[in-house]
Amino acid sequence: MSTIIDGKAVAEELVAGIKTATQDLVARTGIQPGIAVVIVGEDPASQVYVASKGKKAKECGFHSIQHTLPDDTSEEDLVALIEQLNADDTIHGILVQLPLPRQIDAGRIIQAISPDKDVDGFHFVNVGKLGAGELETAFVPCTPAGSMLLIERTLGRDLSGLNAVVVGRSNIVGKPMANLLLAANATVTVAHSKTKNLPELCRTADILVAAVGRPEMVKGDWVKPGAVVIDVGINRLPAAENGKARLVGDVAYDEALPAAGAITPVPGGVGPMTIALLMSNTLASAVRAAG
Ligand code: GUN
Repeated sequence: MSTIIDGKAVAEELVAGIKTATQDLVARTGIQPGIAVVIVGEDPASQVYVASKGKKAKECGFHSIQHTLPDDTSEEDLVALIEQLNADDTIHGILVQLPLPRQIDAGRIIQAISPDKDVDGFHFVNVGKLGAGELETAFVPCTPAGSMLLIERTLGRDLSGLNAVVVGRSNIVGKPMANLLLAANATVTVAHSKTKNLPELCRTADILVAAVGRPEMVKGDWVKPGAVVIDVGINRLPAAENGKARLVGDVAYDEALPAAGAITPVPGGVGPMTIALLMSNTLASAVRAAG
């Protein structure tokens, strides 16, 4: 029987622990973790994500602020806001929701965030620490960090000797995911759109992570029997006859389920973990600030 990995339940457990740790931190030091979420423009998916981040922050007992800027905001104005947040002692985590409008260079914005408040883990300082295996002091990007927790909990053992294939090489998921798996002693291959014989390669994976943003691309017969399958994709398919839009992952779930040893569903798998890890990074930042 395949295990369906309940990311929602694991995330709830994590959040409960963060809530308790936050109460302790406030009682001990008077420091309340603070997060600032910045959104530019009106992308509907981004608005949903940002609202759920703010809600979860409040649930954790954090100080939470949101800056909503118009679509035509200049890069200079956004940098000025980030510098103000960098200098604000009540804020321990700064998240600028991506994507940004075209007139803004996202790379410059990410590098403007203080590495000590970069709870997304996108600043080069944190990217470098993760690449060098400095996991104790790095902020690790939330989606791969959450995926890694699910993998470790599912396997319940060291990943030594296991083959991991990560499909997708983005800076947000694929590359940091590969680095985390490597740090955990897995043998890692990163596949992407130019990779040859992708189905065969995937069939070598004891751990298969799909992070490409293409609905149901990974087929059931790409899954090695017993593999742990982590589906990072969240793709909204157009409404069918019944008028309801369907949310699917990057894995053809119904096909992959019988082959997999364990698999994350969409929704309810990796998604809730991403937000929980954002809270965990923000708490860690506040704990560091408290000394
Ligand atoms: N847009 C999609 N995923 C993310 C993320 O993890 N962080 C930020 N800042 N924006 C995103």
